[in-house]
Amino acid sequence: MTPEAVRGWARHAVDSPLYVHLAGVIADDPDLLGIAGRIVSQPQLNILLAGVQLILARDPSDPLAAWYPNLTAEPRPPDDALGREFRRFVADHEDEITRIGATRYAQTNEARRAVALLPAVWTSGWDRFHLVDVGASAGLNLALDRYRYRWGSVEWGDSPLLLEAGSRGADPRPRPIEIGRRIGLDLNPLDPSNPDDRAWLEALIWPEDGERRRRFRAAVAIASGVGIEMVAGDASATIAGVVGSLPAGEPVVVMDSFTLNQFSPAQLEAFDRAVAEARETRPVYRVSMGETWRDDGSSLRVDDGSGPRQIGWAHHHGRWVELYDLP
Ligand SMILES: C[S@@+](CC[C@H](N)C(=O)[O-])C[C@H]1O[C@@H](n2cnc3c(N)ncnc32)[C@H](O)[C@@H]1O
Repeated sequence: MTPEAVRGWARHAVDSPLYVHLAGVIADDPDLLGIAGRIVSQPQLNILLAGVQLILARDPSDPLAAWYPNLTAEPRPPDDALGREFRRFVADHEDEITRIGATRYAQTNEARRAVALLPAVWTSGWDRFHLVDVGASAGLNLALDRYRYRWGSVEWGDSPLLLEAGSRGADPRPRPIEIGRRIGLDLNPLDPSNPDDRAWLEALIWPEDGERRRRFRAAVAIASGVGIEMVAGDASATIAGVVGSLPAGEPVVVMDSFTLNQFSPAQLEAFDRAVAEARETRPVYRVSMGETWRDDGSSLRVDDGSGPRQIGWAHHHGRWVELYDLP
């Protein structure tokens, strides 16, 4: 990795003063740059910092933990000593960090994206359907009907987890829904009931983001109890068999968030073809978040088979939703 690439990354890390400081330490240190550059998974810095957090969380008595807000009650502000401790920690755990970088991926799973996904699902007008999530990670968005929501003055649901979003456009239009099977497709499905997978997903959350950590834990507790099925493999190859395994003729919502942007053109084409073929035997409604981005958010699209239709925008992590006023 080059120092410039690391400094460029830091410009987008403004929510974490700790990571901004550590990026400066890495950019100035050829050994750390070399270790980051040997990480197989992308983005290398996110994986390096998550790997450090994962190992550190197992031993919060290590001196480096004194700067991590999620590991100590009174974190020290970033200073020169932080750089020294970080260099020592990475050197002591280089092999393990490299191994993590070869076996783990940046599979963040943000339940608050459901503030945009659920209003999009409601636009199907369906009361009963099966739900397939493409790139489901740990499956948290497959439990979107089990969370409680507040968008401005509109509230919906009854759940220990409240997801709150600013509503910049039209109000969502809630309707009762019943989800049959809930199936997640992922190259590498994560199991929220597996402590190692859970620890990795938590390590991907930035140290300062206590709210996201609490939300993640609450969503895991809920999603673990709703009967989510996971199918491993490339979704462009597995989607046809999965949808085909659902009872004949029954409607299915196929949803994706921040996944199709990782597909190659050939995968996208195969995926679209499989959905088109499935539509010959059953209604399929598609909901897509994060296919295209603007500066402050990403697109929210639906498709009932007549072609993709943008219904608004949403913040990448669901801080706000901007729905168009649809008929
Ligand atoms: C950025 S995560 C998004 C997770 C979740 N949809 C969310 O919004 O919180 C993208 C996920 O897509 C998965 N993925 C990427 N390419 C895939 C493919 N071709 N088939 C299945 N899953 C894929 C990754 O493994 C990862 O778990």
